[in-house]
Amino acid sequence: MDLKPLMQLSYGMYVVGADDNGKPAGCIVNTISQITSENPIVALSMNKNNYTHDVILNSGKFSVSILSEQTDPTVISYMGFSSGRDTNKFEQVAYRMVEDMPVLTDHISGAFLCKVVGSYEVETHTIILGRVVDTFDYNDDIPPMSYRYYHQVVKGKAPKNAPTYVKEEVTAEQPEEEIYVCTVCGYVYHGDLTKEPDDYVCPICKQGKDKFVKK
Ligand SMILES: Cc1cc2nc3c(=O)[nH]c(=O)nc-3n(C[C@H](O)[C@H](O)[C@H](O)COP(=O)(O)O)c2cc1C
Repeated sequence: MDLKPLMQLSYGMYVVGADDNGKPAGCIVNTISQITSENPIVALSMNKNNYTHDVILNSGKFSVSILSEQTDPTVISYMGFSSGRDTNKFEQVAYRMVEDMPVLTDHISGAFLCKVVGSYEVETHTIILGRVVDTFDYNDDIPPMSYRYYHQVVKGKAPKNAPTYVKEEVTAEQPEEEIYVCTVCGYVYHGDLTKEPDDYVCPICKQGKDKFVKK
């Protein structure tokens, strides 16, 4: 099946935050949609392997920070390519706690809080339904970051746990060209990576050269 038409679906870019017994948890998501209008409810698709998945379902609530086109891409690297199971990702980003949930403070287009009102397991993911209980930090000066903008302007990728992950095809169009793939985030480096300095890091997930494999 040709999956390309699905790439024409539109999404935004968000940090979903959660209350891990008083500590901040959270990750990048693109799959948030408002699905009812009165006392609005949003739907969020969370991969069951993500730490944030369990924290949201245990605490029964989550925050959403709407990223803007001015959001520093390193926020996406930290929040989207490492897990709160292994590291405190929030040491790297500016945030404040609102009702025990982290909300980003820099360059967001808005934020809101949700109470979980339902969930539905769909194979690898859980669709979490959240009633919006508070909204704040509305800012219309800078456009919210769309998923398309993230791919086309920021040149970002999505990892395997993202519902919209598409495996990058390494074609044989240029058989002479060397290609290295970052094993953490899937970023494809075209050329001879060995010529980069030793402190070269992946532009997306900031991992070192040792995380790249030659294809
Ligand atoms: C652009 C982008 C979009 C993503 N979208 C989702 C999503 O909609 N749902 C999801 O569960 N994970 C999504 N992810 C993956 C999580 O952010 C990632 O697996 C993260 O490391 C999970 O961290 P955690 O284990 O601390 O929860 C996305 C990541 C990126 C970079």
